[in-house]
This record gives sequence, C-alpha cells and structure tokens, in this order.
Amino acid sequence: MTEIIDGNAVASEIRTELTDAIETLADAGEQPTLATVLMSDDPASETYVSMKQDDCEEVGIEAVDVDIDPDAPAEELYDTIDELNADDGVNGILVQMPVPDHVDDREVLRRIDPEKDVDGFHPENVGRLVAGNARYKPCTPHGIQKLLDSAGVDPEGKDAVIVGRSDIVGKPMANLLIQKAEGGNATVTVCHSRTGDLAAKTREADILVAAAGVPEMIDGDMVQEGATVIDVGVNRVDADTEKGYELVGDVDYESAKAQAGAITPVPGGVGPMTRAMLLYNTVKATGRQADVDVTLP
Ligand code: GUN
Repeated sequence: MTEIIDGNAVASEIRTELTDAIETLADAGEQPTLATVLMSDDPASETYVSMKQDDCEEVGIEAVDVDIDPDAPAEELYDTIDELNADDGVNGILVQMPVPDHVDDREVLRRIDPEKDVDGFHPENVGRLVAGNARYKPCTPHGIQKLLDSAGVDPEGKDAVIVGRSDIVGKPMANLLIQKAEGGNATVTVCHSRTGDLAAKTREADILVAAAGVPEMIDGDMVQEGATVIDVGVNRVDADTEKGYELVGDVDYESAKAQAGAITPVPGGVGPMTRAMLLYNTVKATGRQADVDVTLP
C-alpha cells in the first residue's frame, strides 16, 4: 500500500506546537507580527497571501497586510520595505513573488532586513543556508523536510532527485538535503529544463521532489518502485468546475502512486506545510528579535 503523506495533518500539528511558543512570547510581552506585501493582481498570488494571513490569525500572529498597485513605481515597494524594516512592531516581512517586471526582484530581496526575512531569500540568509548555518530555512523545502520526517523517511544515504532549480524551492531543497545534518546527508541530483535524459535520473530517485511548475510532467514510468514522491507543483489547469479550473501537481498522481512507496497529494501535501513553516519562521524571528527563548517544533 502506498502511504499518502497528509500535509494538512502535519501542518496542523506544527501549528499547535507553535501556539505554545506564541504563548511563551506573549508572556514576555511580545506579539509576533508578520507583514505581507502584495504587488500583483494575479488571482493565485492574492489567494496565497490571504491564506497566509488567515493562518496567522488562527495561531495568534498579527498579520499586517500591505497592498501595492502593480502599476505603481518600484520605489513604492522599496519605500514600503524600508518602513517595515524600521518598524519595531513588525517581526517578519514577506513580499509575495513574483513582483511586476518593472520591479527589480533582487533589489526587493536585498532590501528586506535579513533578521525579518522569514522567506529566507535574502542573499545573506541564502549564504548562511549554503554554509550550513541557516537563520531561516526557506518555507517549502523546510516543510518538505518535516514531511519526510513525518513519513519516517530519513534522507541519509539515499538518492534524492529534485526536478526544478528555482531559488525558492529547487536550490534550497538541494542545499538542505546535502547538509551534514539531520534531515540531510542525501546524495542529491538537481534536474532542470536542459537535463538530457530526465526519466533516467528520476528513476534513480529514492526521494523524488517535483518542483518544475509543469502540470503532471512526472508519471509513473519515471518513478522507481517504492520511492517517496514529493509534489511541489500547484498548477491551475482549465476544467469544467465551478471555478473553471482545477489544481494539479507536477506529478501524474495516479500513475506515480501506483509505483511510489509514499506520495504527497495536491492539494493537501506540500502547500499547507509551506504555510506552516512561514508561521514557524515568524515565531523564530520574534524570539530572536526579542531575545526570548522559544521551543520550536
Ligand atoms: N511565491 C511563490 N512561493 C513563494 C514563497 O514561498 N514566498 C514568497 N514571498 N513568494 C512566493
């Protein structure tokens, strides 16, 4: 029987444990606060940001919501970041990506105070992650580490294959899995759009992380029997539903499930974990900034 890895359940456990940490902070007079900044009218980005805010409220994190007109000059976003950096009442800052083309996304990431960079995307935080001394682990790969742990899959000594080399998922996932640390010690291959024989690589994977953003590109033929398959894809494809679309992953679920030992569904796999780890980083940031020791899950 293939194990279905339940991201909603694991995320819920993490949120419960974070609630205790938030109480510890409250006892010390600290109110964790996350600012989300959205400069986009993409419906998916709007949905993600509003879900992140709802999650904050549920666990007792205050959410500050900043909306910037996507046609506004880039300076409006840069100035907003400067203000949030200077605001002692804000512990974490998340600028939802992607930003409009006329905004320099590298400048956005550089501009966020690395202590408030709960995405872990600032170059200083990327450097620390690569060096094995992460301040804030990026939310999606960190959530995947937690999912693997929950499924009893220790990456040590295993062949992990990541499909996708994004700054948000593929690269930090590779870095976490090769760390000489708990949840790491895997042998990692990163595949991408120029990889020669993709299926030959993915069939070698004991742990296969699909993060290419291409609907259902990984099918059962590409999966080794018994592999753990982690599907990061959240693709809206046209469908005859009320909303006019349905969500599918980067993995062809049914055929991959027939081969896999364990697999994450879409939705209900990686997505809830990304959101839970954002709360985790916000609580961690608050503890660091207030110099209060908090126990994190
Ligand atoms: N866009 C897609 N994923 C993410 C994420 O994890 N953080 C931010 N800031 N933007 C995103």
